[in-house]
Amino acid sequence: MQIIKTLKELKNWRDGAKDKSLVFVPTMGALHEGHKALIQRANQEGGLTIVSIFVNPLQFAPTEDLSKYPRTLEADLELCKTNGVAAVFMPTFEELYPNGMQNLVKIVPPLDLANCLADCLCGASRPGHFEGVLTVVAKLFNLVQPSKACFGEKDFQQLVLIKRMVSDLNFNLEIIPVPTVRETSESFKGLALSSRNRYLSEEQKILATEIYATLCKARELILSGEPVAKVIKDLTKDYFEYFEARDPESLQLSERLPLRLFVAVRIGSTRLIDNLAVAEN
Ligand code: PAJ
Repeated sequence: MQIIKTLKELKNWRDGAKDKSLVFVPTMGALHEGHKALIQRANQEGGLTIVSIFVNPLQFAPTEDLSKYPRTLEADLELCKTNGVAAVFMPTFEELYPNGMQNLVKIVPPLDLANCLADCLCGASRPGHFEGVLTVVAKLFNLVQPSKACFGEKDFQQLVLIKRMVSDLNFNLEIIPVPTVRETSESFKGLALSSRNRYLSEEQKILATEIYATLCKARELILSGEPVAKVIKDLTKDYFEYFEARDPESLQLSERLPLRLFVAVRIGSTRLIDNLAVAEN
């Protein structure tokens, strides 16, 4: 497995892999089984899988957890190696942002749709977050030049915005969505895996299993014919930041199937998100 730190090394590696198609998995490290599922999905495409590890300051607000974002590089590289990754691209900040983050040309999510696509859900409490995500992902796409890239449904709003960017800006690659990987152990069953789960105490982690349980209950009630607004009102817990039903493509608020249910919560100082599809079989 090749470890690549500079843009020049990346170009050399790409030149050596010319005939192969590249399948890209962008990450911020602290890899877990969710990231592993993306890598395994990428491997199925039969090209070379390349993973990036870069904690992108541009997508963190000054008040957020950038400095304490978990960094577990050695274990990350081991996970990549044992899962057939051909190369890991792990640039430094200076390599990726040689002119810093001020006065940078950025990718801005569509303004007319800002109310739903980028400013709702996580965009509402994290201003500028998706601008930072789209900008770094666009830079990484241009550097890696993959034919496909895998993104998790765990971050559904991010996935929708990246698909929109690829389509609106004519990026020449296919986005592969990967279903959310969840805890399977009895105590934490259903909790969506996240790098941030490691901030939770055992008790907080048990409380957090309520998120997925609530989503499943809501899906069951909606499919049995209960009005969406009532289900959401009845099942909202006091520590939920939002609990909403939206159209899975436009992300507009909706009460018509197919729907996507979205939850964000704060447990202690940790913010967790999850979502679930609701559709007639
Ligand atoms: P990160 O949070 O490291 O996530 C990297 C990828 O793993 C994303 O596509 C995310 O949706 C996916 N992922 C995380 N947890 C998952 C789970 N439990 N099941 C399935 N997929 C999961 O998302 C980012 O990094 C950054 O915003 C990034 C796109 C790399 C840009 O900086």
